[in-house]
Amino acid sequence: MSSEKNNNKGTFNSNFGFLMSSIGSAVGLGNLWGFPYKMGMGGGFAFLLIYVLLVATVGYPLMVGEIALGRKTGKAAIQAFKRVDKRFTFTGYFDTVAPFLLICFYVVFGGYIIKYFLINLGDFLNLGFGLQGMDSGAFFEQFMSSGLEPLIYTYIFLFATFLIVVRGISGGIERFSNFAMPALFVMLLVVVFRANTLPGAREGLAFIFKPNFEVFKGMGWLSVLGNAGSQMFFSLSLSSGAVIAYGSYLSKSADIESNGWIIPVADSVVAVLAAMAVMPAVFAFGLEPGGGPGLLFVSLQTVFQSMGATGPIFGMVFYLLVLFAALTSSIAMTEGAVSAMLDGQQERGKEPNRLKMTLIFTIGAFLGGTLVSLDALGSSGMPHPFGLSTWLDVFDLGAEGILMPLGGLFFSILLGWFKPGILDDEVALTGPFRSRGFYQFSLRWIAPVFLFFIVIIQLNAFFGFFPM
Ligand code: PFF
Repeated sequence: MSSEKNNNKGTFNSNFGFLMSSIGSAVGLGNLWGFPYKMGMGGGFAFLLIYVLLVATVGYPLMVGEIALGRKTGKAAIQAFKRVDKRFTFTGYFDTVAPFLLICFYVVFGGYIIKYFLINLGDFLNLGFGLQGMDSGAFFEQFMSSGLEPLIYTYIFLFATFLIVVRGISGGIERFSNFAMPALFVMLLVVVFRANTLPGAREGLAFIFKPNFEVFKGMGWLSVLGNAGSQMFFSLSLSSGAVIAYGSYLSKSADIESNGWIIPVADSVVAVLAAMAVMPAVFAFGLEPGGGPGLLFVSLQTVFQSMGATGPIFGMVFYLLVLFAALTSSIAMTEGAVSAMLDGQQERGKEPNRLKMTLIFTIGAFLGGTLVSLDALGSSGMPHPFGLSTWLDVFDLGAEGILMPLGGLFFSILLGWFKPGILDDEVALTGPFRSRGFYQFSLRWIAPVFLFFIVIIQLNAFFGFFPM
């Protein structure tokens, strides 16, 4: 780690490594699980069009802005905002606290995924520790509320994240992503192919792709827009420290503008492919396309159980690809916060200590993850603050509900109104900044208005102030 340049924090060895790590950060549970369901329920192809439009008009400028902010300052969120405008330092804190909250539930699902990978491996090898004739719904309930077992898997997932991040940028994050992301893509193609050759798969394709304009009637369009917007924000890992931190490790010779569109395009392609893998399989077996954890751990496991001898093989491939997606995302969350803490050490005149800072973050995740895991998605009977029904929701309210959309809102206000053009020279280092006009227009007029709307929609989603 000490051999790494750039603020003693490290750098990516190549633009490819930056891309794999950033796409790895973007592609996660949001794509594989949130997106297919939201697309199906939100108008199918019509939802996709709105989603793509939002990615282009809001996601792209924010992505370019975050990468450029990181690279220009060479710093993670807190110091990066401070250097550009002291008054916006708090935005950096928002972006740094958000991943602390996100990781608390992400690791729990990461643990479930490891368990489901092992179940299928066990079935494949005939080891007899699969579902053993149990219905997959009952099995999931029992597993998740069994206390110690899901907790252990949560810790294994967290420890894996720790081990990669502690090795630093090029030796840990980049190296793992360079392998995991191409592997994920190949596995996803295999699963898409299998799902679409099942009899009855067409209905699933119709569920995701059939344009449904009914959902836009009355106030319906508001909720579709809100869902698509918050999905996009989470999926691109915006305002969570990760993109700014990764940007700060990017070589000055890399082209920010093209990276700025490649990441969202790859993320959207994977989301659509995930929908094409999950929904046809679910429909082929006559299951309900539920949106919650049931989709990933009950419906799909039922599919693999029903596929006969090849089921466990596809089950293993599927859960392994989800595991890679989840790991590269939890790594990014961790790095977003750790990088800011390393800057903090440097500001105080100390030598940055990656081991120590990663450990501190991991202990936080350990405590939060323990709470979320023991809560068993609210079925534990534990009390939950703010009238919410699970501890997961409590952490998610803080991150997706409040800090992330506000972080995005203030970032666009900073770049659109207070310091317009401040990052242009950084983007133009490798050639003319072709989309500058569009980028500027969006950050001034589209992104702030839209993000303000998302803040309201998100708070409403948690507290239900008005029906949507
Ligand atoms: N983009 C990830 C997903 O779609 O699951 C979630 C995420 C990763 C959010 C990394 C924030 C972050 F820093």
